[in-house]
Amino acid sequence: MVLPAETIAKKRDGLAMSRDEIVAVINGYSRGEIPDYQMAAMAMAIYLRGMTTEETAALTDAMLASGQRMQWQAGGKPKVDKHSTGGIGDKTSLILAPLLACCGLAVPMISGRGLGATGGTLDKLEAIPGFRTNLSLHEIQDITDRVGCVITGATGEIAPADKKLYALRDVTATVPSIPLITASIMSKKLAESLDALVLDVKFGSGAFMKSLDEARALARSLVETGQRMGVKTTALLTDMNQPLGRMAGNLVEVHEAMATLEGREPDHLWHCTRELGIELLLLTSIAARREQAAKTLDAEIASGRALAKFHEMVAAQGGDLMQLPPLGQSHEILAEQTGYVATINTEQLGLAIIELGGGRKVMSDKIDHRVGLEMLVRVGDKIDQGQPLMRVFASYEQCKQVRSTLSGAVTISETAAAPLPLIVDRIE
Ligand code: URA
Repeated sequence: MVLPAETIAKKRDGLAMSRDEIVAVINGYSRGEIPDYQMAAMAMAIYLRGMTTEETAALTDAMLASGQRMQWQAGGKPKVDKHSTGGIGDKTSLILAPLLACCGLAVPMISGRGLGATGGTLDKLEAIPGFRTNLSLHEIQDITDRVGCVITGATGEIAPADKKLYALRDVTATVPSIPLITASIMSKKLAESLDALVLDVKFGSGAFMKSLDEARALARSLVETGQRMGVKTTALLTDMNQPLGRMAGNLVEVHEAMATLEGREPDHLWHCTRELGIELLLLTSIAARREQAAKTLDAEIASGRALAKFHEMVAAQGGDLMQLPPLGQSHEILAEQTGYVATINTEQLGLAIIELGGGRKVMSDKIDHRVGLEMLVRVGDKIDQGQPLMRVFASYEQCKQVRSTLSGAVTISETAAAPLPLIVDRIE
């Protein structure tokens, strides 16, 4: 028998682990036979030494096998999902799931909570009174079959090894590792037994991956893993050097997502959502060409069907949109000088939202869903001194506490910066 310490030493020394060794580590950790301190050492060794493609595949398989997979009846609608690596203001899931359900696809979406400075889809949806994000595997399958889409958290039945390892990585500085992120994301997505998956891999100041090169490497690893498991997978590399859409927070993002579903805000948020949707319509052959896919998505928005589907999904998950609170009081942050918006430190905006109570500092924190931000400028915009840069949805006292962080997040230069491209590349 190989001792866990021997396998840790192998990875520490930069050697590749065998599939059997990886399975033994994951099974041992899931069963509680390998303690947190040994798994933390292993996670750090993987973080520092990396993994080969074969090791990453074995790790993904072992985490997937730690739980159950969804079972779908043969001949049903194609099952699809989108996963974003996370950012500030990213509410595309709320728009995309009902939109795709209107296009003849089924979307059993497993989402996450806020992580680091980024917001989480589940936290946003919980701003809707009554909305349940803890559905059982049976409920997920039932609502997907009846309504066409569902957005919920990973149940204890789905990749439980990831749940345990993720919590450990979060507190041992081992989150930003490409093989660990790949196995974590893909074990949950593969448990959905999908036909097609699109990944929104973000880079920039508000993303996990700060550089485009790191994001590209992660996208390649994710796409390769999806395809190896028989799921048609593509990825878009998208900019997170400024928030996606205008709103960032929880309740404010639900309002913005609904406005987009109503066709009221055809801006870069809609552009990003639409491009992700196009990928899935092409991968599942619902559309043969990009223009046809785009037209299909536009028509579902224009007809009001996508918004009606969102209402249907919320009701199926216990939510009551009639009770959705309106936007609360807000206070403006003004530009201190005239010039052009040069950069936006997007991570700093996310941290300010957490400071306001819109995210968690420790796992047990309760979220105040009503606080948030509305960005009124984008990189490249010309601004005058005294012009509002953003609105803060919070009390005056709360706003005072984050005012300098927020105004410091926007740098203003005398010369015009070029606007940032939103979608930089596509990996297939
Ligand atoms: N999201 C996940 O689910 N896992 C990671 O490791 C990172 C982001």
